[in-house]
Amino acid sequence: MSNKLNLYFDNAATSWPKPEAVYRAPEIQMREASGNPGRSGHTRTLESDRLVYRAREAVANLFNVEDPSRVIFAYNATDALNIALKGFLEKGDHVLFTAMEHNSVLRPLGRLRQEGTIDSDMIPCSEEGYPDLDFLEEAYRSNTRLLVVNHASNVTGTIAPLEKLIASAHKRGVKVLVDAAQTAGVIPIDVQKTGLDMLAFTGHKGLLGPTGTGGLYVRRDIDLKPLREGGTGSQSESDLHPTSMPERLEAGTMNSAGLAGLLEGINYILDHGIENIRQAEDNLRNHLWNSLLNLNGITLYGPKAAHSETVAVVSLTVDGTDCGEIGYILESNYGILCRTGLHCAPLAHQAIGTFPEGTVRLSPGYFSGMKEIDYVVSALQEIVKLSTV
Ligand SMILES: Cc1ncc(COP(=O)(O)O)c(C=O)c1O
Repeated sequence: MSNKLNLYFDNAATSWPKPEAVYRAPEIQMREASGNPGRSGHTRTLESDRLVYRAREAVANLFNVEDPSRVIFAYNATDALNIALKGFLEKGDHVLFTAMEHNSVLRPLGRLRQEGTIDSDMIPCSEEGYPDLDFLEEAYRSNTRLLVVNHASNVTGTIAPLEKLIASAHKRGVKVLVDAAQTAGVIPIDVQKTGLDMLAFTGHKGLLGPTGTGGLYVRRDIDLKPLREGGTGSQSESDLHPTSMPERLEAGTMNSAGLAGLLEGINYILDHGIENIRQAEDNLRNHLWNSLLNLNGITLYGPKAAHSETVAVVSLTVDGTDCGEIGYILESNYGILCRTGLHCAPLAHQAIGTFPEGTVRLSPGYFSGMKEIDYVVSALQEIVKLSTV
């Protein structure tokens, strides 16, 4: 097999390639507009202002947000999750989170716990990555204020039963923060229909935008304490940060070049239809899963039932061979790029039984082809054969 290929199977980390317009838009924004959005009143500023507004509207449109000012931009999902957690939680609060959470949730919670601000409990998950709903029912306390849910696992692809989790939390007046890092742009999300309270998203994965973009939807009845304060271009006479949204949660110069790319990524998704993207990724994932399922020497992780709902992630281990070594062989011998290890989600690996070694994660994207999947499968077949002789 040729080792000159560069087959990208790491879309769960960041998507590649991007639509052509996503590459071009930041350059156009920097060359032709480039004013500081929301600052002066001149032409370049106003153009940048309009661009940021259009990006905000596009996000609102994609997630069916009632009012675009409830969408704030951040640098990535991690930033958005920090803004949500540190802006919402107060001393004495109790938080529930699932075992499938990413370190971008676990670590801010860890810090708040260490400082003595909050207390928290983990909802265990099954080997397939589903949260234990019975455990959840018993886990609420009188001071529980927030449930944090990873919409889809970046380790197993498992999609959380969002409606059930939200209904359970809301029955007790508990708010729900959803981490949509793996689902924004690949699964339809309707914030009004689901009734979720906060949604953190990243721009560089399923939304097909550049790195350095992301954001947070915050429902109208929630006021977050700002994580950062500073220049907004409004109410400059005051030494206090403006309280109105979105300025309340956005300080400093916006990443207008990145947002220009994000806008094109979302436009691409809206043009192609998120249902079509979902179907295409589902077909790729199912073909990969089914082709690997009966290969001796390979163990797959995640929902096992046929037609289980997942995002396009397949995690596996190869008997007797370290994951890092498999990743190295895949790239150096076959030109296949993937991710190995814990994927920043240590508790998820404890749940599925792959801690501390982790897994080899293959994540095709909308631009992957079935032939590429077949090539990856034959590469793994060859690796298994060689490792058992
Ligand atoms: C489930 C999940 N949450 C959060 C993140 C963090 O995303 P970002 O690196 O864009 O902050 C990731 C990224 O891998 C993820 O998979």
